[in-house]
Parts: sequence; C-alpha cells; structure tokens
Amino acid sequence: MTSYRIALIPGDGIGTEVLPPAQAVLAAVGKRHGIEFTYDSFDWSCERYLAEGAMMPSDGLDRIRRHDAVLLGAVGWPGVPDHVSLWGLLIPIRRGFRQYVNLRPVKVLAGVPGPLRDVGAGDVDLVVVRENVEGEYSEIGGRLGRGTEDELAVQEAVFTRKGVTRVVEYAYTLAGSRRNHVTSATKSNGIVHTMPFWDELVEEVSARHHGVRTTKEHIDALAAKLVLAPERFDVIVGSNLFGDILSDLAAAVAGSIGVAPAANLNPEREFPSMFEPVHGSAPDIAGQGKANPLGALWSAAMMLDHLGHPEASEEVLAAAFGALADGVSTVDLGGTADTAGYTREVLERIGGRGAS
Ligand code: NAD
Ligand code: IPM
Ligand code: MN
Repeated sequence: MTSYRIALIPGDGIGTEVLPPAQAVLAAVGKRHGIEFTYDSFDWSCERYLAEGAMMPSDGLDRIRRHDAVLLGAVGWPGVPDHVSLWGLLIPIRRGFRQYVNLRPVKVLAGVPGPLRDVGAGDVDLVVVRENVEGEYSEIGGRLGRGTEDELAVQEAVFTRKGVTRVVEYAYTLAGSRRNHVTSATKSNGIVHTMPFWDELVEEVSARHHGVRTTKEHIDALAAKLVLAPERFDVIVGSNLFGDILSDLAAAVAGSIGVAPAANLNPEREFPSMFEPVHGSAPDIAGQGKANPLGALWSAAMMLDHLGHPEASEEVLAAAFGALADGVSTVDLGGTADTAGYTREVLERIGGRGAS
C-alpha cells in the first residue's frame, strides 16, 4: 500500500462541492491500485477571512509544506474583494511553492456538444502551458490619487530570463512527448516591451529542441485561431495573463469551463504541487448541487499522474469520459445530471463498466 497525505483546501462556493467527488473517485481508484489517501482539510476561504481577517493563517504555507500534494477547489466570494482572496491564498501558494508551470489540458470529448461547427470528439487535444509565478501578475504597482480627477493605476509586468526560460523549456519537453509542436503566445508587434524579450527566450529554447516545430502567434490572432481551427494546436505556451485567458477560451471550445483541469507544478519537487479545476467558485450556481465536477476529477487524475500512478490516472479519465460518452453529463454540458448523479456514474465505471 502506498500512502499519500494531501492538503485539501475546498475554498469557496462550488469549490466545496467538487472536491468530495474527487475524493470519492480517488478512494475508488486507489483501492484497485493499492494507493491510500489521507487528507488534512483546511478551512481557508472567504468565510474565514470575514470571521478572522485572513484567508489563511500567517504560517499557512508551513502547514502544508510537507504534504505530498495540495488539492484545491476554488477561491473567491462576493463581499470579499477578489484581490484580497487571491493575493491572500491562491497566489502565495503558487509562488511560495515555486509552482511555475500551470498545465491546462483541453480535449473535445465524445458526448459533449461543443459550441463549434465541424469540431467533433478527438479533433482537439491541446495543452496550455501557462507561466504561473511572474509576468503580468506582479505586485509592483498600485493606485494613486483615489477619487481625484488625476487618479491612476499602474502595474509593472516582470519577465525574467530564468522565469521565462524554465517554463518554455518545460513546454518544449512536453511537446517532444506529444505532437512536437509549440505555439508561443506573444504580442511582439511593437507595443508591449516585454514580449520581444519573451520571443528571444523562446527562440533560444527552441534551438535546443530540433525535433519540435515552433509557431509564434500574436495573442489576438491566436484567440481567433483557437476558435476557427482549434485542431491545429498541440502545446501552447503563454505568459501568466495570456495563459489564463487562453485556458478559459480553450475550455469553452471544448464545451464548458467546468471540464477544465489544472496542475500547478513545481517540476523540481522541492515543494508540493497543487491541483485545482480551472474554474472559480461560481456564485451563480453555488449551493444548487449542479456544478460539473469533471474539472476537479481531471485535476485529481493529474495529481495521480504526478505522484507516479499513470494507470490509475488513466482509469479515472476513462471512467469520467466514459460516462459522458454514454450520455450522462451535467447541465453546463447540456445534460440533466447533477453533481452527485454524474459522480455516481463515474464511480460505477471505475473498475467496472468502461474501465480499462
Ligand atoms: P467562474 O469560473 O466561477 O464562473 C464562470 C461561469 O462558469 C459561471 O457562469 C459559472 O456558473 C460557470 N461555471 C464555472 N465552473 C463551473 C462548473 N464546474 N460547472 C458548471 N458551471 C461552471 O468565474 P468567475 O465568475 O469569473 O469568478 C467567480 C469567483 O471565483 C471570483 O471570486 C473569482 O475571483 C474566483 N475564481 C477563482 C479561481 C480559482 O480559485 N482558481 C478561478 C477563477 C475564478
Ligand atoms: C485561474 C484564475 C486565477 C488566475 C484568478 C482567480 C486569480 O482565474 O486560476 O485561472 O488568474 O490565475
Ligand atoms: Mn483563470
């Protein structure tokens, strides 16, 4: 029996609704593969902020530093400004644990009616590699002259040679194990000073990966091409902000943001990596039991893979995708199942119907 200790941070809204399905699926697949998960659950959330004045305790990172991984639901709730909830919890974990790669795969799945004409199951299989600790998400800047006629806001984007090179290197290595194609999201047509630097670093890395083809796309044109021809893409590498936007866009192309998973990776394994669905706390549907748990289940599958259990990971995905292919899906995908109903179908397929 292999045991793992997972730090569980359900967070806010549907974050608390999609993690129990992920735990149930991990328990079921773990049983078949001799893997046991124990959880330490942390109530770090907007509710905690309102009660105690902080999203997490000041030694929060130390409390989860020695866990094998972090599984997070979603953070953010009306009544607490987003910059408070995010800079108070999500961003410190990503940065404190040097999770500089945010890996966000997207597939068009059987049984999911995507919004695009002529794009069917299997046509789209791409992954967004998002820089996750620097770039446009910087702490340098602020607001001046609040409420005056001269009010202004400034934020400096920070791109470092080391920070860009390591994430781009990760993207090229990943492409080498896929379809050998990297698309770099850029905006180097003279406006944004940081992007010519990004381009130079991409060129340096690409020179070390002869087997991998590189396409450079301006972010605006890339957004259009993702809608017009999503099947053209394999690995897309982008800065923190570009990667954020592209990952929601690509998830929508696949049918719903509710299906999209994310792995915030510390590739050197000095710290735990964090697995979380791409979506947020969805206040508009929270508490109704209808959130799609697939993003969380897929994130849990990515965690299994990261921990060295690719077969168990595949089994989770086969069960989750199998349920969709058999016509069971949540409302966001046009189906009628609720969170619990879809999860039941996935559990039934683990080690049984549809499992490999
Ligand atoms: P959101 O992802 O919460 O919701 C966007 C839309 O997608 C909503 O209509 C929602 O109902 C729908 N949706 C999202 N997940 C779904 C699911 N699993 N099943 C079905 N439908 C789903 O984004 P938002 O509205 O921009 O943000 C809401 C809050 O969440 C904000 O406070 C924001 O800062 C936070 N947020 C947190 C994270 C995170 O923790 N990683 C990510 C994004 C947004
Ligand atoms: C995500 C989210 C976060 C981000 C927000 C909530 C800060 O949108 O995980 O994609 O932009 O990184
Ligand atoms: Mn996002």
